[in-house]
Amino acid sequence: MNELDDIWDELNVIYSKWGIEEIPFSESASTLKESRRKKVFTGRRKELKEVLNLFRAIERKRILIYGWIGMGKTAFILVILDFLNRKMEKTLTAYISLPADTDLATAALIALARQMKNDEWAQNLLNQMGLITEKPLKQRESKAKAGLPGLGGEISEKTIEINEPRFPELSFEDLLKRALKEYDRVVIAIDDLDKQDPARVKQLLLDAQGMLKSGAWFILTGHPFGLTRDLVISERGLFDFSIKLEPIDQATMYKMLVKYLNSVRPQTSQYSVENPQAVKPFTKETARMLCQRSSGVPRWLNRLGNYVLQKASEINAEIITTEILQQGFIFTNQQVRGQLGLTPEDFILLNLVLEKGQLSDENITLEELQKLKVQEFSEVIHIIDKLVQADLIRRLPNDTAIEVAPTPLIFSYQEIESESSN
Ligand SMILES: Nc1ncnc2c1ncn2[C@@H]1O[C@H](COP(=O)(O)OP(=O)(O)O)[C@@H](O)[C@H]1O
Ligand SMILES: [Mg+2]
Repeated sequence: MNELDDIWDELNVIYSKWGIEEIPFSESASTLKESRRKKVFTGRRKELKEVLNLFRAIERKRILIYGWIGMGKTAFILVILDFLNRKMEKTLTAYISLPADTDLATAALIALARQMKNDEWAQNLLNQMGLITEKPLKQRESKAKAGLPGLGGEISEKTIEINEPRFPELSFEDLLKRALKEYDRVVIAIDDLDKQDPARVKQLLLDAQGMLKSGAWFILTGHPFGLTRDLVISERGLFDFSIKLEPIDQATMYKMLVKYLNSVRPQTSQYSVENPQAVKPFTKETARMLCQRSSGVPRWLNRLGNYVLQKASEINAEIITTEILQQGFIFTNQQVRGQLGLTPEDFILLNLVLEKGQLSDENITLEELQKLKVQEFSEVIHIIDKLVQADLIRRLPNDTAIEVAPTPLIFSYQEIESESSN
């Protein structure tokens, strides 16, 4: 039993030598608290300015933020919503991660209803959908009072039937009208369209044309693939404005690393970027190497940083030298490859990408397609998407064809070879 205490103390020693209280990195922006998000958010100035400028106008806008997974779409919209909440009077903001098998109007309806806590109708609507409301509903309360005094407990145990709204778009418009009586502006952010199959996203957007034309502001996030051309460019009039989040430059990534580390240092030892101490336990050199390997993708910085620090604390490394960093990268490779839920087909495709360094319609053979049990390369898109979500492979910038390569979180065969020959 004391062993646990010993281990904990040992970890304490190493973390206090590093001058940090815990590992600051996280995979997804939505799990961070607002205060922490504010502390670590770095860069994207140009994009933020573009979006904030839109809020200088009274006319409502529909905004699309798109980019590959991990590029920082969720973080970007959340800092904007945080800001609007803090600074803009009479603005109601609502955020929702698009639930599976849900149309956009229903998602928007749920998001808005959740924010209208004092609106009986909104709360009723949520209840009918089987969603939890913060306040007990009046109707039920009165039933309890009239019929079964003292048996309030029974009411809450009653199972609620889930009723999808029959006309989500109309319900949304009704609710919006009610919201706009109290607020000048209603901003609805629907996140995670990037986690859906691209063909479905397209359909969802087309189906949501009516809702998008309503009087609310919308911020949606998506995947570049499947959203291109006709949808993004306002040809169809779906969006007024779209921004693509691209990889972040190295200097900004370094600043980001410093901010993450500062966020877990005591108030009394906050360092500026110029101070070499700011990246402790990294050295300036290994901090740069870490940023470089992250390739401008904030999520990769978070995942690599997390695994490197985990490894370093395990082996009691006071300073992250290039050797320790390398061990951290090897550990990352093991962890990312060892993710659960991968099927044999997923591994076949992953191995093809690793063997070839780069995989596309151009260099996949008929035999390889057969092994994957498909006839055409386009049929493996769902596998590609899954491996991209898992940070195993990345899509290469190519507008006309699907081309993929390993991410820097895993080692390519060349790297493994050079590693073992060392
Ligand atoms: N500009 C940024 N500054 C600091 N951290 C960021 C930034 N953008 C993203 N992150 C972090 O990187 C991780 C992935 O970002 P996220 O917004 O979830 O990506 P996406 O939604 O595009 O998949 C999260 O932990 C998030 O907090
Ligand atoms: Mg996201």
